[in-house]
Amino acid sequence: MAEEPPGGFLTLSDLEEAASKNALEPAWAYVQGGAGEELTMKANREAFQRRTLRPRALVNVETLDLTSTLLGEKVSAPFYVSPTAYQGLLHADAELATARAASSAEILAIFSTISSRSLEDIARAAPKGPRWFQLYFQPEQATTQRLVERAEKAGYTAIVLTVDAPVFGNRDTTILGGFNVSSIPLGNGPDVFPPTHPTAIDQLYHNRSEASATWDTVDQLRTLAHLPILVKGILTSEDAQLALDHGAKGIIVSNHGGRQLDQAQASLDALPEIVETVGANAAVYLDGGIRRGSDILIALAMGAKAVGVGRPVLWALAAGGEAGVARLLSLLKEDLAIAMALTGRRTIAEVDRTLLGTPIQ
Ligand SMILES: Cc1cc2nc3c(=O)[nH]c(=O)nc-3n(C[C@H](O)[C@H](O)[C@H](O)COP(=O)(O)O)c2cc1C
Repeated sequence: MAEEPPGGFLTLSDLEEAASKNALEPAWAYVQGGAGEELTMKANREAFQRRTLRPRALVNVETLDLTSTLLGEKVSAPFYVSPTAYQGLLHADAELATARAASSAEILAIFSTISSRSLEDIARAAPKGPRWFQLYFQPEQATTQRLVERAEKAGYTAIVLTVDAPVFGNRDTTILGGFNVSSIPLGNGPDVFPPTHPTAIDQLYHNRSEASATWDTVDQLRTLAHLPILVKGILTSEDAQLALDHGAKGIIVSNHGGRQLDQAQASLDALPEIVETVGANAAVYLDGGIRRGSDILIALAMGAKAVGVGRPVLWALAAGGEAGVARLLSLLKEDLAIAMALTGRRTIAEVDRTLLGTPIQ
């Protein structure tokens, strides 16, 4: 019998299965599920599977440099941990494990408003970061303001405002798996309004202030926050332009991992029009379906500055806690390095459009 690998899995390919053995059914259904028929969730992956790469040969790739700079902070690779709620569902150390693993690997991590541990405890677990805070608008502006102040005080260096969840998506898989959001403890305490699942139409609109948020609300946030604001959940050039007009320093192209609007476009397919609109005015990031180094290369070649990884981090947390997340980050870096070497790209700056081949029809 081979020894159990550190972190609980051997490769990027056996990670999901290793996690599934450790997670309880309701939590697993919550993590794995998308909205509706999960067409967008699948489309996120298919969009990568359709793309091809044009490798260059006989480039000296003896030395590779994967480092990048995100909003002025140096990171060891151009991918980051996407914000995901309730990490305590997957491992007792929850966000503390993720924060430690990411920080040790010099990888940026973004933490959700609806984390299992408080944003202060997360910051204390890995004081060096780098870390950004993901904000959901709260029903009272005063509570939103308190959250922003707490994040600033605790040393988070940017606010990632998620705008694709005015209401939560209709996630049948999650409901069928018996997941009940109202029973999950919230790390950020009374400053966070407990999310409800939209089982009744009146709850949809009455319990979440986000249903009434507009670009004016973003302007109000700008007056409260000293930190740069990124807008997460943009899928159109029109909204990318509005985000710039309202002062966003970064735009995250995302459909929330297919968990919000089913039949929304795959995030990779939405990327080109947004990159074209934003130009050099802000950095464009992308998440949704990133699973391998070649996915990272493709998104970067299409104009993303960096990419976010959602579910795989939760799988790694379930598989092995901090050691699991550390292993995932290291395997992803290794996979990216191999893909760079095999395409003749020595630095992230050398990843450009000429890397893209003809898509498979
Ligand atoms: C279980 C789970 C919880 C999530 N919670 C949040 C959240 O609290 N805030 C947020 O902005 N996005 C959240 N997301 C979306 C992720 O930030 C990201 O957009 C998505 O997971 C990327 O797709 P991927 O899972 O295919 O990598 C969540 C995603 C999952 C799977």
